Amino acid sequence: MEAVVGVTLQLDRAIAQETAPVWEKVKSHVTPMEWPDQARLISEINALKKDRDAVILAHNYMTPEIYHGVGDYVGDSLGLAKEAARSDAKVIVQAGVHFMAETSKILSPDKTVLIPDLKAGCSLAEAITGADVRLIKQRYPGLPVVTYVNTTADVKAETDICCTSANAVQVVEWAAREWGVDRVILIPDEFLARNVAAQTTVGIIAWKGRCIVHERFKADDIHAMRQAYPGAEILAHPECPEDVLGAADFAGSTAAMTDYVMAKKPRQVVLITECSMAANIKGDVPEVDFIGPCNLCPYMKRITLTNIRDCLRDMTFEVTVPEDMIPRAARAVQRMIDLPPPAVPARYDMIKARHHVPVELI
Ligand code: 13P
Ligand code: SF4
Repeated sequence: MEAVVGVTLQLDRAIAQETAPVWEKVKSHVTPMEWPDQARLISEINALKKDRDAVILAHNYMTPEIYHGVGDYVGDSLGLAKEAARSDAKVIVQAGVHFMAETSKILSPDKTVLIPDLKAGCSLAEAITGADVRLIKQRYPGLPVVTYVNTTADVKAETDICCTSANAVQVVEWAAREWGVDRVILIPDEFLARNVAAQTTVGIIAWKGRCIVHERFKADDIHAMRQAYPGAEILAHPECPEDVLGAADFAGSTAAMTDYVMAKKPRQVVLITECSMAANIKGDVPEVDFIGPCNLCPYMKRITLTNIRDCLRDMTFEVTVPEDMIPRAARAVQRMIDLPPPAVPARYDMIKARHHVPVELI
């Protein structure tokens, strides 16, 4: 607590003690000026969680005070979905975006699922509707529809199986085998689809959805970072364009990137993904030097300690999914969850495993 000695005077001793381990994790990101307010909110939220029998599922892109302070489970989209299915709490608070809360509701329809801000959307989820998927199925009869979990419940209800960036290659190959076909529909993220296509001989039919955070990264940025920091390892998310992954040292889901840094502890790391990831991992490996850039997801950043507190206090905002949609959407998500975990952690090896089956863009 050395750097925060002055401000702990502004904090009740019990709160200062309760939140001291969190301070240790966030102090490279949070200033002593901000900490007293955050510490009080963290303490309030932890008390409300007990009163409400609630669990907070926090995505890796949450800010460090949420990730280290109040998340009961932190992880990537796949991990959060699995935890929503497993949890026995009465209430799930989704510290993430709306499609994640819908996924929790689909998997746990008897639980109350809350999101602190209903405007926490996602550009990929907004890129396609259930009606679009029905038209795609008419155009490509007999081909399985794989959709990224970053989609709304009505899209999931039209889907054969969901995937995340952590398992997309495995899911695509499973679907091709099960359906006995050599092409699958993988929507709505065009770049994820192209990156998956480079890892498999299964043909991919894709949609032109984009993540507004990851589409902004360019291969030239990666080359410039490498020149400026020759010793740094560069990790990228598969929602980035293909040539960005090609220029990176490793690509994988947010959890795969975290595991990579935790296991290898490189001296310097560049994370080509949402900005908070670096601050969150830094809390666990202070010896690693994280170098910008800092692209923020405006949707993820709508979630704050204050609105998480309000959400638990007022039990707002409840996320619901039409009853008739739930079983069809649940089948697609559950199929993904039921696949055996891959023998080796999923990664996108853009150098060694490049295939040249063209992607068909709808
Ligand atoms: P992950 O599944 O890798 O956590 O990604 C979710 C997301 O929204 C990335 O932009
Ligand atoms: Fe959606 Fe991109 Fe934000 Fe993830 S980072 S929630 S994919 S807009």
